[in-house]
Amino acid sequence: MGLWAKFKNTTLYKSIYRNDYPDTPRNQVLVILNSVVLHLHPVKLPRRAVRVSYTWGLGGLSLLMFLILTLTGVWLMFYYVPAVPHGYQSMKFLDTNVIFGPFARNMHRWAAHGMVIAVWLHMTRVFYTGSYKPPREFNWVIGVVLFLVTVLLSFTGYLLPWDQLAYWAIMVGSNMAKVSPVVGTYVQQALLGGFDIGPATLIRWYTLHVILLPLACIALMAMHFWRIRKDGGISTPIPYDEDGETEQLNDNNNEGKS
Ligand code: HEM
Repeated sequence: MGLWAKFKNTTLYKSIYRNDYPDTPRNQVLVILNSVVLHLHPVKLPRRAVRVSYTWGLGGLSLLMFLILTLTGVWLMFYYVPAVPHGYQSMKFLDTNVIFGPFARNMHRWAAHGMVIAVWLHMTRVFYTGSYKPPREFNWVIGVVLFLVTVLLSFTGYLLPWDQLAYWAIMVGSNMAKVSPVVGTYVQQALLGGFDIGPATLIRWYTLHVILLPLACIALMAMHFWRIRKDGGISTPIPYDEDGETEQLNDNNNEGKS
């Protein structure tokens, strides 16, 4: 008996891998359905729906950016102090005294730009393929809220270095909120935690940036992915025949269950 075969016979191996590799289609389906992690994936997919040039992987890229932001963000939290006398200094300390500090900070910044761009392009793709149409209209609405949360995450993070750029960007942003009809002044005061930018603004935006908005984003993403499954998976491209004529109009985009 080879070394690998011997290892596969140990209690340790068997306690982790309970079954052999499933080599029949029936067993492969059972493995997917019986595993908590694997059952998040559909058992079968139409080949056309996973064509890269249909989705461009933009939804997955948005998720990847979010994961990078979470990892680098937690790392930044080890050093960042969310208080007026310390915010700017702690970023400078990170830039100059911490090993890989500038690298982690730049990863966080670039991933934030990347997420806004990826989510925007993903939204554009969904629009141009008509994938917002029934039965996917509710997922489009969840998507719009996700876009809003993405932009707010970016904007709240902008204030945290507490430098001149951040301060005046918040001044401009909150004054834009102020000119909204009827509720403008209240929205501005809620955002600033008072009448002017100060310590209350910083702690408010920090809490939004590291707790409330990321949790909202996770909950919305879970709903978004669940809806994709319930709507019959990703919409499929409308097939064209050799003359460029549409073979089945809309059929494939509307075949999902709700
Ligand atoms: C954090 C932001 C988002 C993430 C992580 C995300 C993720 C995904 C993923 C992974 C898919 C599978 C197909 C693909 O990759 O294109 C998808 C599909 C979809 N997304 Fe998003 N999405 C986000 C934002 C949005 C936004 C802003 C909209 C629109 C306003 C939207 C609307 C949709 C719709 C309607 C589908 C189904 C598309 C189809 O069936 O062809 N999503 N999303």
